[in-house]
Amino acid sequence: TILVTDISELVTNDPSAATADPATTSAPEGYERLGVITDAAMLIDGDTVSWVGPAADAPAGDTTISAKGGAVIPGFVDSHNHLVFAGDRSAEFAARMAGQKYSAGGIATTVAATRAASDAELEDNLTMLMRQAEHSGTTTFEIKTGYGLTLDDEIRQLDIINRHTDESTLIAAHVVPPEYKDDPEGYVDLVIDEIIPAAAGKAKWIDVFCEEGAFTEDQTARILDAGVAAGMRPRLHANQLTAGGALQLAAAHSCASADHATFASDADLAALAEAGTVATLLPGVEFSTRQPYPDARRFHAAGVTVAIASDCNPGSCFTSSIPFCIALAVRDMHFTVEQAVWSATAGGAAALERSDIGRLSPGARADFSILTAPSYRHLAYRPGVNLIAEVHRAGRPIAV
Ligand code: NIG
Ligand code: FE
Repeated sequence: TILVTDISELVTNDPSAATADPATTSAPEGYERLGVITDAAMLIDGDTVSWVGPAADAPAGDTTISAKGGAVIPGFVDSHNHLVFAGDRSAEFAARMAGQKYSAGGIATTVAATRAASDAELEDNLTMLMRQAEHSGTTTFEIKTGYGLTLDDEIRQLDIINRHTDESTLIAAHVVPPEYKDDPEGYVDLVIDEIIPAAAGKAKWIDVFCEEGAFTEDQTARILDAGVAAGMRPRLHANQLTAGGALQLAAAHSCASADHATFASDADLAALAEAGTVATLLPGVEFSTRQPYPDARRFHAAGVTVAIASDCNPGSCFTSSIPFCIALAVRDMHFTVEQAVWSATAGGAAALERSDIGRLSPGARADFSILTAPSYRHLAYRPGVNLIAEVHRAGRPIAV
């Protein structure tokens, strides 16, 4: 066993564990859900949290790790990533900052570079990106395909992803590849008749970019159904660039999560709440594409469960830093700090239908970060400053 000691604030995401009294701290919206224990300790048995509570009541551990008076938070659950790719699109970003508009069309640039890359190049790039994200506190990664767009290239991406995470997503329907430019239905047939069957048992999730310039609602519905029939759970890129029916389609298909939701009507939000579909907001995308930020207050008021993820990808958002996303979410999407921290941990776990991660209470996997800051609030209060001192996954240090 390992006892983590000298924790100023332990964010458990288990309201029943809380010792800090919300009434005395004039609790902001979302505070109670964090289940904050002040002057805390945490016991880890193997890969699992076995006890949390006030330091004064702590059991003995075989060894100890001192948090040195810093806060401890659950590892970030980054539930939306496109990390298997080759090539560089920094010029596209620079052109966008100089006035050009983001469109789905840029994906084709990365598809060409990815097809031309060796397995080793793709995996080395993936590993490098994952290490960077781990240093900013991410302990769980969902990772999507979508830059191969042939049977062999999509399966190749899945095989690489499966060596690094259990949360693998097939998004062969990312855009219509150039060779099917004049026959988009032919590509949808390829996805349904060949790629999805070959990916069965390899992909946990099926995803589609439902958008102008990508796939129509009708095509999306057919692809999601085919994925579900092959044993995958559905999630969806919905209403990123335009308002439309994608959020309601995600709800109607019982998607675990509808992601982006940059444009969401009241009826869309009501449908998500009713279906129990998580809305995964991606503040880095609005930042990097100069799109309007959705207002999280509307999502919370409608009773929607909200996650925050990075969407790290070479086109619409090339940050993997969840602390940066939290700062943006608070500043520009009107999350409270508490809502943002919850959404990047427990919210991400909900978006992946996981109950073993995203919290620090007995039975959870021991995924956590130690901050060089006395409060979780510093994650938003000190944007751009790396406050992640140590990161542990399943009870072992992965970034220190
Ligand atoms: O989530 N929206 C679709 N896919 C990515 C962007 C991919 C790209 O531009 O390469 C996204 O924003
Ligand atoms: Fe995406």
